[in-house]
Amino acid sequence: MTDIALVTGANKGIGLETARQLGQRGIQLLVAARDQAKSEAAAAQLRSEGLDAQGLVLDVGSDASIEHAAAEVAARHAKLDILVNNAGVLFDDPDLTPSQQELDVWRRTYAINLFGVVAVTRAFLPLLRKASAARIVNLSSILGSLTLHADPGSPIYDSTMPAYNSSKSAVNAWTLSLAHELRDTPIKVNSVHPGHVKTDMGGQRAPMAIVDGARSSVAMATLAADGPSGSFTHLGKTLPW
Ligand SMILES: NC(=O)c1ccc[n+]([C@@H]2O[C@H](COP(=O)([O-])OP(=O)(O)OC[C@H]3O[C@@H](n4cnc5c(N)ncnc54)[C@H](OP(=O)(O)O)[C@@H]3O)[C@@H](O)[C@H]2O)c1
Repeated sequence: MTDIALVTGANKGIGLETARQLGQRGIQLLVAARDQAKSEAAAAQLRSEGLDAQGLVLDVGSDASIEHAAAEVAARHAKLDILVNNAGVLFDDPDLTPSQQELDVWRRTYAINLFGVVAVTRAFLPLLRKASAARIVNLSSILGSLTLHADPGSPIYDSTMPAYNSSKSAVNAWTLSLAHELRDTPIKVNSVHPGHVKTDMGGQRAPMAIVDGARSSVAMATLAADGPSGSFTHLGKTLPW
């Protein structure tokens, strides 16, 4: 049976490219975006490239949308092999210090980057359990590394965006919790740092092309049975928590 992958925030950036690269491996794609027009446009683009892609409306910040999407996928498919929790937001104001960031920024960031990931995973876990060996990939960031933030010599020491950074630290903690829960199953759950990638979020001065920014997610989404679970990596290299 063909493998099926769901990628959130797949209408642009790293998510769209992750879906493309999974599709190029013969995997059936559920191209999720918060807006129907965006999800359909991205799925149509991937179909025009010869890939097997269907749009799916999924706003990871809405319980109703998540519930509706999970019911729709369950009605159409008997299982889900790959879930890539890719959707993410960055709202911190770079001109403010950590203590000056508005509380609303923290709330809106956590709603998508953490609660969205947890809620989507919970909703799709029953279908993931029906696959023979599902893979869950959580898009974290090197900016979620507490070890590197504590090191004045690290390249991210001055990247203080507290809401975004700590939301990714929390994603890493969630990855470990879920990997622990699923440790006696064939399901693997891992966090990845995609790199500093040229997207709307990463900015045009970012050093990494989108095609390379998707590679860490694709690698973890297609892990062999002897691959890790509960890891935090970038292009196969382990990052410090
Ligand atoms: N780019 C980098 O350098 C970098 C570095 C480290 C980690 N990351 C992580 O990689 C992931 C992808 O980032 P990117 O650079 O590709 O960012 P991007 O180009 O800004 O794309 C973000 C995606 O998330 C979607 N999204 C936002 N809120 C959503 C919601 N409520 N429901 C569903 N989808 C939603 C966006 O949809 P809309 O188009 O509708 O807004 C878009 O598809 C993120 O988790 C990010 O934190 C990126």
